[in-house]
Amino acid sequence: MKTTLSTLAWTVLVTAAAAQFNPAAFPPVNEVPPINSTEVKEWLKGLSFADVPVLPVHTGNPPACPALAQIPANQCWWTCQSCPADDIETCPTPGTWGLTFDDGPTPNTPALLQTLKANNVKATFFVMGSNVVRNAEVLKQEVAEGHHLASHTWSHHPLTTLSNEQIVAELKWTEKAVMDITGHRMKYMRPPYGDIDNRVRAVVKKLGYIVVDWTSDAYDSKDFALNAGFTEATLSAAVTTMSNTLKTYGANPGAKGIITLEHDLYPVTIEFAKRLIPVAVEAKLKVQSIAECLNDASPYQNGAGPIQPSPTIKPGSGNNGTQPTQKGPNGSNGSNGLVKAGSLVAIMAISTALLLTA
Ligand SMILES: *[C@@H]1O[C@H](CO)[C@@H](O)[C@H](O)[C@H]1NC(C)=O
Ligand SMILES: *[C@@H]1O[C@H](CO)[C@@H](O)[C@H](O)[C@H]1NC(C)=O
Ligand SMILES: *[C@@H]1O[C@H](CO)[C@@H](O)[C@H](O)[C@H]1NC(C)=O
Ligand SMILES: *[C@@H]1O[C@H](CO)[C@@H](O)[C@H](O)[C@H]1NC(C)=O
Ligand SMILES: [Zn+2]
Repeated sequence: MKTTLSTLAWTVLVTAAAAQFNPAAFPPVNEVPPINSTEVKEWLKGLSFADVPVLPVHTGNPPACPALAQIPANQCWWTCQSCPADDIETCPTPGTWGLTFDDGPTPNTPALLQTLKANNVKATFFVMGSNVVRNAEVLKQEVAEGHHLASHTWSHHPLTTLSNEQIVAELKWTEKAVMDITGHRMKYMRPPYGDIDNRVRAVVKKLGYIVVDWTSDAYDSKDFALNAGFTEATLSAAVTTMSNTLKTYGANPGAKGIITLEHDLYPVTIEFAKRLIPVAVEAKLKVQSIAECLNDASPYQNGAGPIQPSPTIKPGSGNNGTQPTQKGPNGSNGSNGLVKAGSLVAIMAISTALLLTA
């Protein structure tokens, strides 16, 4: 049955869901949730692992790669065998830049949201349940500002080191937290450290998730490494490296769009992200969330959410939110017709998105 929800009805629905959020009802943060709780037992009920491949469960955080010859060929371990199976590693359209941030939300995230808003850019946030329950307001802001939420597990443990039951607990607790706060049941997930193999894939698929990795090592910004012993020199060097990668790609985009990996974790990773966004203009890339780059009108398991498309970044829009009327390189003030066209498209997309299948 098709039901049309007005924006008001959507807000009421989301507010009602949000009212059910109780941070005390979640397991301890940053630990693999126990599998003997009432909730996890309920989630495991009716799930059969009979068709889940039995493969070596690894150790290490993250696990080190053994010699290739020691890994079963059917394991298809992304990080150690460069084997993606059907994971998403690219955006389908050449010249698009799937912008993703992992490990949040954190108290540093709003500064990033301000920059994304100032540049009219939408991203996908792969959120950690442990951070969601401690930063619920930031999560709500991400949704309110048209960003796309996806799962990055509860405790950020490498999934190939966990049992099938523990993987379920990691994903379902995170799913519940985001659902209770926003009303959205997430549909995409990214394994911490990219650590996924055919056993983990089979379990996450049972829970309805689609796996999103990133486009090769070159598009992993390694921004989190900047936090230890941070200096302006290391930051600007990292920005230059990633800018060059984006510009090289933009000059010759080939057959697919790219997906980058950044983190909304530390002030330095936020600053890194802020400096990188304007590079999209120079590299002639169209920045999009994963939902948008995949053209998925139903980016959540319970249907569409108010995901807004990102209009092409305007030349001269490399501001950081503190100067929203910054002049463009050609003297334009950055508020040309593109903005209005973009807003209209956004409004139309939201209206379309509110056509829910009940
Ligand atoms: C779950 O198991 C742990 C030990 O493994 C135990 O301490 C705890 O009481 C158990 N919880 C429930 C709800 O059974
Ligand atoms: C924002 O940009 C302005 C100039 O464009 C600069 O002076 C300011 O330091 C920047 N602020 C941050 C937080 O990056
Ligand atoms: C300046 O840039 C804007 C935005 O792209 C564009 O619409 C306009 O035509 C440009 N003007 C000139 C003189 O190049
Ligand atoms: C800047 O853009 C606004 C909105 O489109 C327009 O009304 C205004 O005239 C522009 N100012 C300049 C100096 O171009
Ligand atoms: Zn992560």
